[in-house]
Amino acid sequence: MSGNEKVYKYWSKRSNTHDTVVLYIVGHTINREIENWLINQFNDTGVVLELGCGSGLFSEIIATVVKRLVATDLSGEMIEQANKKLSKFINVETRIEDSYKTSFDDNTFDTVFMANLLHIVKNPVAILMEANRVLKDDGRILTVDYTGYGMSFFKKLALGFRYMKKWHSPAPYSKNLGPDELTEIAQKAGFVTENLKLIGENTKALCWKGGKNNERNNLEK
Ligand SMILES: C[S@@+](CC[C@H](N)C(=O)[O-])C[C@H]1O[C@@H](n2cnc3c(N)ncnc32)[C@H](O)[C@@H]1O
Repeated sequence: MSGNEKVYKYWSKRSNTHDTVVLYIVGHTINREIENWLINQFNDTGVVLELGCGSGLFSEIIATVVKRLVATDLSGEMIEQANKKLSKFINVETRIEDSYKTSFDDNTFDTVFMANLLHIVKNPVAILMEANRVLKDDGRILTVDYTGYGMSFFKKLALGFRYMKKWHSPAPYSKNLGPDELTEIAQKAGFVTENLKLIGENTKALCWKGGKNNERNNLEK
């Protein structure tokens, strides 16, 4: 089975119960904090591409504040779930897309957003490079990832226990991203960090905002 096939099967199988299980595992508080952070980033963000939107947990929040949202995921089952939340918005389109190689032209989007994608893929640098390709030169990238980084041993253990109780096996390639690792990955993909924040009291999330390093990207062309 290819890496993507393994990932596809894992997440498709969990699409029906995704939202309730995620909220059980991470808790409602961290998601509210992420939503607050997100809403503040999406002032005047134009046309937005979301990669790995899953069942649309965060897409629904973004849809209310952006001009246009193209929400994408590898899994058709996840897109079906997302459609249930997003079909009421006239400014939202959903599409099956592989974030390693999307069908969009270079320099298309004002903003690229992804939540909980970088920490569950084999090659996060390649995903960010694709985001860099489709992002306009003056565009913004926003990422959010739940992380065990900065959590106490016992809180991490309890979170792992809740995860295994509901989903029985760890997600393929799953890792805990820390601020230094994320900055390095972003740099390798041709981005500069504008804002990096670890949020959450119990469960933590790493929120990152970046822009294209156009000087470096042009040198490499
Ligand atoms: C942890 S879920 C996150 C879903 C949603 N963004 C959220 O935070 O609730 C990861 C999602 O990424 C998708 N995914 C994994 N690899 C992908 C790829 N190569 N291209 C597009 N989506 C991918 C999975 O299908 C799954 O829906």
